[in-house]
Parts: sequence; structure tokens; C-alpha cells
Amino acid sequence: MSSRTPLIAGNWKMHKTGTQAVEAAGKLKRLVDAARDVEIMIAPTYTALYQVAQTLKGSAIAVGAQDLFYEKQGAFTGKISSEMLVDAGCSHVIIGHSERRQFFGETDETVNRKIQAALSADLIPVFCIGESEAQREAGDTFSVLDKQVRVGLKDFVSEALTRIVIAYEPVWAIGTGKTATREQAQEAHQFIRSLLETLFGKPFADTVRILYGGSVKPDNVRALMEMPDVDGALVGGASLDPETFSKLVFYN
Ligand code: G3P
Repeated sequence: MSSRTPLIAGNWKMHKTGTQAVEAAGKLKRLVDAARDVEIMIAPTYTALYQVAQTLKGSAIAVGAQDLFYEKQGAFTGKISSEMLVDAGCSHVIIGHSERRQFFGETDETVNRKIQAALSADLIPVFCIGESEAQREAGDTFSVLDKQVRVGLKDFVSEALTRIVIAYEPVWAIGTGKTATREQAQEAHQFIRSLLETLFGKPFADTVRILYGGSVKPDNVRALMEMPDVDGALVGGASLDPETFSKLVFYN
């Protein structure tokens, strides 16, 4: 059993208006009130952040954003800075999600700048990495993860990264119902952890949490969480319903 506190995080993506998000957050707050020895985070859309943070004030549920921009302020129409996220009540921010890489031009280089911006504002970055089906089938999984980690965390020192969380999300498992087997997840997490040890030393690698994401559901979460290098889950679809998400929180 690792000494790392598990984190169960929900990425609501582009779902729930402010009113719907507040209703779901209120329900979840009641459902997980008795949760112990697990950290919980939900990431609603930008327009719901403040209201959800207000609803969850005083609860054990942290609020995260799904992205940010790396500049502090300026003529960047439509963008939101890390400082604005903190002001809205965020403590976490998802960075580098595969959907942003796929649809919105996110690169390992922009991920690096966003991680820097998040850390500068004392936000906890949830740094997403993962390979596509084609990359896995070509046997390139580890080289893809290696590049994403090395470029995403380039020029950082371990002391600056103490709060970072990594999320391994095989793209082929996201939203597909095709969850990675626990062995596949463990293999990838073990690779990531050993790479982090090479880059930043064993103390850091032993403490950083690596979440699994990709079709996590109540019927597979326990098997995944039993793996020694799986420290939690980053959940999409199954996080939208408070009852279902609460079953993931009480996985043990
Ligand atoms: O960020 C988590 C998300 O990508 C996983 O989505 O629906 O497969 O749980 P889902």
C-alpha cells in the first residue's frame, strides 16, 4: 500500500450549465461527506466555476478548471488566466488533456508553459499524458509518454513540482468504454514513475500521484486502484452523475 493519498477527480468537460452544476455539486457534497483517506476534485466548465466553488465551500471537494492560458493578462480574447481561476475558487487545473491536444492545438510546449503558469499561481496542475490507439498498436506507447513528460516538464526542478499530479489517459480508452486493463495501466504508470525518478529523483517519483483516466466506472475502479502505481482516477462520463461518481470515491 503506497503512502500516496488517492485522488478521485471528475472532468465534466462541456456538460452542465451553472444551475445544473450547482445542483450536482450539492448532491455530491452530501453523498461523499463521510469519505475519508481520499481526495476529491471536480472540474466544471468555466461558467460554473465560481458558483460550484461557493456551493462546495467548507466541503472536502476541491474545484478544478479544465484548462488555462499561460499569460498573466493581456489582449488574449476568450482566454482565462491562472489568477482568474484562483479568484473563482479553483485549487486545481487540468492541463494537456488529449481533447485539447486533438481539437485545440495543444502541444507539449504549450503544456509546459501552462504548468508553469499554474504553479506560479499555486494551482495544482493535473498534467495529462497518453498515447493514441495507433501509437499503442505501433509499439510507441513508452516513447510517446517519454516525450510528453520530458517536454511537458522541461526546465522544472523537483522542488517546484511537489504539488503536480500526473494523469495517464490512453486516448483509445477515453469515452470509448474500452478501459485499459489494470495490467496495462500499471505498466504505463510504472514507466512514468521510473521516468520521473530518472528526471527528478526517487523522493519526488515516490510521492507524485499518477491517476488513470479512460472509461473508469464503478465496476472497474477497484481493480485499477489495487495496482501499486495507480493513485486515483480522472473520470469523464461517470463523474457527471453524483451517485455514480460517489461510488468511485468509495471504491475501497
Ligand atoms: O479526463 C477524463 C476523461 O478524459 C475520461 O473520460 O468518459 O472515458 O471517463 P471517460
